[in-house]
Parts: sequence; C-alpha cells; structure tokens
Amino acid sequence: MIVRPVTEADLPVLEERWPVPGGVHAGHLRAQQYDGATFLAAWSGEEPAGSAMVQWGGPVGSAAREAFPDAVEINHLQVREEHRGRGVGTAIIAAAEELCRERGRRQVAVGVGLDNDGAARLYERLGYRRTGVVDTSEYDWVDGDGAVHHEVERDELLVRDL
Ligand SMILES: CC(C)(COP(=O)(O)OP(=O)(O)OC[C@H]1O[C@@H](n2cnc3c(N)ncnc32)[C@H](O)[C@@H]1OP(=O)(O)O)[C@@H](O)C(=O)NCCC(=O)NCCS
Repeated sequence: MIVRPVTEADLPVLEERWPVPGGVHAGHLRAQQYDGATFLAAWSGEEPAGSAMVQWGGPVGSAAREAFPDAVEINHLQVREEHRGRGVGTAIIAAAEELCRERGRRQVAVGVGLDNDGAARLYERLGYRRTGVVDTSEYDWVDGDGAVHHEVERDELLVRDL
C-alpha cells in the first residue's frame, strides 16, 4: 500500500472506484490546488483505500486555531469500511507527518468527534495528546439516495509535537 498526494489524473479513478456523493473527491482536489491543503490517498494497487486532507494553514476550528495557530491540521481522514483495521489510517497519518517534517513543521493536530472513541484511541496510540480544546462544526452531506443530511459535530483537538 502506498500513500501519496492525489493528482488530477487520479480523480476519475477515485470517482469510479470509490464513489462518494456530493463531489467530495473533486472538492478536495480543488482545495489542494487553491486552498493550501494536500489531498492524500492510500492505494492498495489500483484500489483507493482511504484519504485525508492536510491543512497547511492550520486548524479550521476557531478555538483550535486560537490555541494552536502553528499546528498543521489533518482532517477528513476516512478509511473505506472494508479496508479498516489493517493499518491504512496509521499509514495516512504517518505520511502526513512526514510531509510536515519535510516542510519544517513541528506540530500536527487532529479534531476528533467527542463520541469517536475508536479514532481517539488510535491517535493517542500514535502520540497525540488530548487538549480539551473543543470546536463545533456544522456541515451537510448527501447520501447515496441524494438526501441531504445536516450534521452538528463537536470535536476535541488532539496534538502531537514532531
Ligand atoms: C478511524 C479510521 C480512520 C481508522 O482507520 P484504520 O485504517 O481502520 O486504522 P488502523 O488500521 O491504522 O488502526 C486501527 C485502529 O483504528 C481505530 N478505529 C476506529 N474506528 C475503527 C473501525 N471502524 N475499524 C477499525 N479500527 C477503528 C481503533 O483504535 C483501531 O485500533 P484498535 O485495534 O486499538 O481498536 C477509520 O476507522 C475510519 O475511517 N473511520 C470513520 C471516519 C472517522 O472516524 N475518521 C476519523 C476522524 S478523526
């Protein structure tokens, strides 16, 4: 399995092999082109297994940004269900941290849903510490039937010094 930044040429492959409604992959690619982010994907051969965004401009949440303005934030981490529990998430985080080191950035942050104990456990095992800094985010997503769902999520920031 390899983890690398997504290119324009990967987009049709991603959309065909990992269909996500709402143009999510294309949106992430645009953010990489225009908004100071890196769109990382993990590939098992030709098969996309997961992805994440690396936000070079720092944490997106206002409380997180205020408390850790110099941190690089990893967000939108997602591993496809059938690929979970095999180290893909760990590999994506390691790749994001390596990019940070290459750019001389020394602090990495992730926001974890207050009810997402599994993900928090994974991050703590990888050296991230809880900070008690919590932000609320709201977003819409579209399911496979085209229905729009509105989510309100409360995330705690976890931080690792590299
Ligand atoms: C959290 C997530 C990215 C982990 O990816 P992964 O490839 O399964 O992770 P790894 O194989 O490297 O590590 C496994 C660890 O992930 C955590 N984990 C969280 N949810 C999990 C799930 N549904 N299946 C397997 N592991 C999960 C566990 O801590 C597990 O460690 P454990 O053996 O101590 O239970 C993945 O489960 C996922 O996409 N979940 C849904 C979206 C999400 O929660 N994203 C994180 C936002 S902060």
